[in-house]
Amino acid sequence: MQRTYIKDLHNYIGKEVTIAGWVHVRRDHGKLVFIDLRDASGIVQMVALPNHEEAHAVAGTVRSEWVVEVKGIVNARPEKMVNTDEQNGDIEIEMTGLSVLNESETPPFDITEDTSGIDEEVRLKYRYLDLRSERLQKNIRVRDKVMTFFRDYMHKNDFVEIETPMLMKGTPEGSREYVVPSRLEKGKCYALPQSPQQYKQLAMVAGFEKYFQMARCMRDEDLRGDRQPEFTQLDYEMSFVSQEDILQYTEAMFIELVETLFPEKHFTEKPFPRITYKEAMEKYGSDKPDLRKDKNDSNELAFLWIVDFPMFEINEEGKLAAAHHPFCSVKDEDEERFMAAKSGADILDVRANAYDLVLNGYELSSGSIRIHKKEMQEKVFDLLGISKEEQEARFGHMLEAFKYGTPPHGGFAPGIDRVVMLLMGEPNIREVIAFPKTREAKEPMTGSPTQVNQETLDELGITIKKEK
Ligand code: AMO
Repeated sequence: MQRTYIKDLHNYIGKEVTIAGWVHVRRDHGKLVFIDLRDASGIVQMVALPNHEEAHAVAGTVRSEWVVEVKGIVNARPEKMVNTDEQNGDIEIEMTGLSVLNESETPPFDITEDTSGIDEEVRLKYRYLDLRSERLQKNIRVRDKVMTFFRDYMHKNDFVEIETPMLMKGTPEGSREYVVPSRLEKGKCYALPQSPQQYKQLAMVAGFEKYFQMARCMRDEDLRGDRQPEFTQLDYEMSFVSQEDILQYTEAMFIELVETLFPEKHFTEKPFPRITYKEAMEKYGSDKPDLRKDKNDSNELAFLWIVDFPMFEINEEGKLAAAHHPFCSVKDEDEERFMAAKSGADILDVRANAYDLVLNGYELSSGSIRIHKKEMQEKVFDLLGISKEEQEARFGHMLEAFKYGTPPHGGFAPGIDRVVMLLMGEPNIREVIAFPKTREAKEPMTGSPTQVNQETLDELGITIKKEK
């Protein structure tokens, strides 16, 4: 079959073509049957006239979402019938042949309309149908364009994409990890990466100087509209750079992204304003304030840098923790107090070379200039109250690597899902992820997570505790 895509039909006016796709809508006027046919590239109106008997008969039977192949003549519409608002509004296919490739049951919801009002459990159960809707097709396609833009931008700037392991050593950086039991060493587990933080730093030790990755990250944390258990970061790291270098590189990249792919959008302020964490908390009571001038303007983008985050914090559980992660370096001005301190709890105001990029009230990204000296890294662990034995057990590989000529380095990791959500004006990241999970971290379509059968558990040496 020499198949023509619907987007290309204009090149064939007056000619016969073969097209294929899904019946979007059918309007049966008896003598004339109209079918809007949809493929991955667009929609076109087709008409079955009584003189093409076979096609006309089949057209009378097809229903929404049936998959069909059509032979037809591409006709220019008479001027009165031209609809300039529609793709292909000036042409129509006169069907000369119509064959059904596959039938479809009536979908559980109407995918020709915006599906955002439909119960989300149902939409997620039938995600492959929801994804047929115009809005989700667009979101996923724009996401691809955004990722391609970033990848090209990184390559143009001499970054090398390096894949880092999915099965790694468990070293909690902050949130709870997903663990994967080892079959060969019963009772031991791998962890799935919360981010490639340690590997990207090790790539700097390895001399790559500019690393990036479209990194899949997994975190077993409480979910919200801007949090999924799996998400994607544009993760990058550079050697021999200052904080200023990373901020400038990142800002130029985001401006070019918006100007190239979203020219209808405008910036509240450019260059992006910068405020310290302390100022942000004092002035706005938040480290991600929304600085848009008009919150009803869907095209306004208020980017904002927050700098000088504290090194340590008392976390939600009341425990001392690294505010970002324990690999951040301390600001020169605060180093003396840092080195003299006995516990991180005594120096909660010591600042790290850590920064966030905020967009319209959402944290898009965090990053920092890292520690590259072993003694300094050990001092952070000491101040966090991590014993020498535990430091060795959990982070020995980092401390060991720091013995072998680690360059100064730093990086950043914008969350792709949040970037696309905000640029597409969606209310949550599930709308820009092809196969997301619910707030309970479930996937209604496949039913995951599911129970593991006894044979697998035995092989892994796992006994499940019965619920009391
Ligand atoms: P951080 O933990 O701040 O930093 O994550 C960076 C960015 O990743 C996105 N993000 C998420 N997106 C969706 N769902 C989630 N559960 C989720 N968690 C985080 C956000 C966030 O700003 N390794 C460091 C980065 C670095 O220091 O270079 C890190 O992961 O957009």
